[in-house]
Amino acid sequence: MCGIVAYIGHQEAYPIILKGLKRLEYRGYDSSGIALYGKQIESYKKKGRVSELETWDAPILHEAHAGIGHTRWATHGEPTDANAHPHQSNSGKITLVHNGIIENYASLKAELIQKGYTFQSETDTEVLVNFIEDIQINNNSSLEEAMRIALKRVVGAYVIIVLEDGFPDRLIAARKGSPLVIGVGEGEHFLASDASPIIEYTKRVIYVNDYELAIISKDDIILKNLGNEPVTPYIQQLDMELAQIEKGGFDHFMLKEIFDQPASLTDCLRGRLDVATLSLTLAGVDQHLSVFTQAKRIIIVACGTSWHAGLIAEYMIETICRIPVEVEYASEFRYRNPIIHSGDVIIAISQSGETADTLVAIERAKEQGAFIFGVVNAVGSSIARLSHAGAYTHAGPEIGVASTKAFTAQLAVLAMMALKIGKAKQTLTDADYKHYLVELSQIPEKVQVILSSHELIKEVAQVYAEANNFLFLGRGYNFPVALEAALKLKEVSYIPCSGYPSGEVKHGPIALVDETLPTLFIATKDKYYDKIVSNIQEIKARKGKVIAIINPDDTAIRGVSDHVMEVPETDELLAPLLTVIPTQLMSYYIGVLRGLDVDKPRNLAKSVTVE
Ligand code: F6R
Repeated sequence: MCGIVAYIGHQEAYPIILKGLKRLEYRGYDSSGIALYGKQIESYKKKGRVSELETWDAPILHEAHAGIGHTRWATHGEPTDANAHPHQSNSGKITLVHNGIIENYASLKAELIQKGYTFQSETDTEVLVNFIEDIQINNNSSLEEAMRIALKRVVGAYVIIVLEDGFPDRLIAARKGSPLVIGVGEGEHFLASDASPIIEYTKRVIYVNDYELAIISKDDIILKNLGNEPVTPYIQQLDMELAQIEKGGFDHFMLKEIFDQPASLTDCLRGRLDVATLSLTLAGVDQHLSVFTQAKRIIIVACGTSWHAGLIAEYMIETICRIPVEVEYASEFRYRNPIIHSGDVIIAISQSGETADTLVAIERAKEQGAFIFGVVNAVGSSIARLSHAGAYTHAGPEIGVASTKAFTAQLAVLAMMALKIGKAKQTLTDADYKHYLVELSQIPEKVQVILSSHELIKEVAQVYAEANNFLFLGRGYNFPVALEAALKLKEVSYIPCSGYPSGEVKHGPIALVDETLPTLFIATKDKYYDKIVSNIQEIKARKGKVIAIINPDDTAIRGVSDHVMEVPETDELLAPLLTVIPTQLMSYYIGVLRGLDVDKPRNLAKSVTVE
């Protein structure tokens, strides 16, 4: 949520920052801005996409070797030029970009107004920059010292990067609760919300921790905590290639990422699942196996698509491991004073590893003594670092705002966890363990089979692209897939959609059904199959349109449906890894047919670092 980039070094800063902002645009895209330090500090900011910044034409673009940039997802104040970052202090001495939220900005602003400060924007960020300036003036201190004092009084989350007039060779950054990566170059340094703007220049990075300040010049990186004590920077090597964050010939990142899934699932299983030796290696689980086998309860916390993966994991873990599982919306869990017993295990699921609600939820649970296990995609992210242990999903960078490949990789990791724990607890027979392992190992090639039918799915999308409403139904393991399918289509097409367990339809949603309503049934062969057939008949009897996701040998549902999309057979526990694929493709095609920007749907952002 909001992306920030900064550069200091021997190259021109503007093109590096502009390109970096484009890479981070998935984090927010309602306005953007850049401040450069040439002969002096100059800023340019615009409502709209980052490409608006290309209209900037000034000598400073070629003079400046330091600068900061921001792409915004509005929290305080509408998307306007004035609310776009960077923001400047009243004296013009301090210029700052900010990702996060200053929760006590209203009281700080009132204090500053009393002292005569004026504000050009409605943002909490402009309050912060003036608050720092006020401290600097009152204490006659350095910017660094003023930032330290200010940040101790600020409530909320932030990454800030600051330019100060009179100091062209230095940037100061600070972080609490929002992500910040420093790229370590030769005579140059890069800062960004994630590694994607950095990767083409250097693979050596430092992940800045909460409550740390980074003082950066082209040749130096000094890290300190808010107590002014030095912190030794820990330089890590990025395991990411530039090609992974580019579209690779696809029209959209969303489509590329849907088609990535055979490879991303293979990457996720590689080195972990070995059918030949019937072994599963998940270091994070292996090292803490007794914590899982002795757990009285597992609580899964997540948001959005990751929450849907959590619901499927509930079914998997309860079936295989016989451990009670609760699945919580992180945004509710963090505020509702939940009861946590010692011996409870919390599994946090997150693609970005930066979702504020999930992060705070696990912080709270950790304080109460729970064991935290992270199922995270973004390596080195905050949730990964806060967890006691974890398993990365290894789906590779996901840039499309609507999550696709991260979801299937989450399911693969969660399935492996369930199998591992079930085997250790002996709640799973050897025969079943082997059966699941073999089935799981075949998932990537079965996903490939579904993807090869994309033209047929596109034809179905063409029929329903103008629908005004959509219903998604499934039972058992496929019920959370119905929720996920509804979320996906809603996000990229803006069509109102609902997902329900099929059995719930008669308790209300059936009132929606008429000849204009498409209902998509996820109806693979499982123990609920006959019930689903009856549910389809109920919709047809009311003249509803039925699309069904079925197995290839299905004749009964094929005969009564208006359209079908096929997925290969697998065990019902793993079916979501397959049944979700046609729903992703259908959503994508409908979004594109409606002329929408599927990679950057309105009002959304990829990494939700505000609550
Ligand atoms: C939906 C989507 C969101 C995220 C949610 C959690 O397509 O992407 O619902 O799943 O914001 O994000 P992470 O997984 O990064 O914690």
